[in-house]
Amino acid sequence: MRIDIVSLFPGMLEAPLAESILGRARARGLVDIRVHDLREHATGRHRVTDEPPFGGGGGMILKPEPLAGAIEALRAAGSALRAAGSAPAHVILLGPAGRRFSQVVARELVRRPHLVLVCGRYEGVDERVSEQLVDEELSIGDYVLTGGEPAALVVADAVTRLLPGVLGDEDAPARDSFARGLLEHPQYTRPEVFRSAAVPEVLRSGDHGRIARWRTLMSLWRTWERRPDLLETADLTPEEQKWTDAFRQGRTPADLLD
Ligand code: ADE
Repeated sequence: MRIDIVSLFPGMLEAPLAESILGRARARGLVDIRVHDLREHATGRHRVTDEPPFGGGGGMILKPEPLAGAIEALRAAGSALRAAGSAPAHVILLGPAGRRFSQVVARELVRRPHLVLVCGRYEGVDERVSEQLVDEELSIGDYVLTGGEPAALVVADAVTRLLPGVLGDEDAPARDSFARGLLEHPQYTRPEVFRSAAVPEVLRSGDHGRIARWRTLMSLWRTWERRPDLLETADLTPEEQKWTDAFRQGRTPADLLD
């Protein structure tokens, strides 16, 4: 998979993309992530990329021409590289007015062979960019960042970890709580007792059946307590549905495990 990121501040992206799992995935050729400096597509002696808004008001707006130059160059590079028949680049503008990014969207995007992530900046981006040059806008949440760079990193990270081989453990993405629409159960490691709090006995029992039941129950309980909204759309087994009904009647995990 190829991911191109267009930004006025490539330095905000290079270091995080070189570290840890993403850095290793790139080094192993599992994902080809490239960062592009928007200023290189600006023309004139001063390579201007932003201007004040028509109609007044504060702040600066990213001009359409440099973004058009960058996006069109990447669409063309994608088609030149592409094997016949594969899908064209999917161009995404990161901004607070976009569709909400989620695990479902990450799973949708990982199926695309070529993503172009365009980072907005300042007070916004000329509307004609959204209208004419990008395929969709994505927001990572209901808050305003100073620019799309952290959002592009979030999208690149969430998508890359879903690629085969990136996590090493092939089952890991499927095991993610969000893969099932639930929060993750609690996890523990050594020591067995930390400041008088012991690891739950079941996790040290070696009984894989009991452990799996406990984990499912705790994942459900945590979701019930912290994100009940997720239960409305989660795909529950009949036993999970029974547990959720029991929570609704005031019962807790301690009441439900044998
Ligand atoms: N740029 C500024 N705020 C953003 C957000 N919430 N999501 C994506 N890009 C952004």
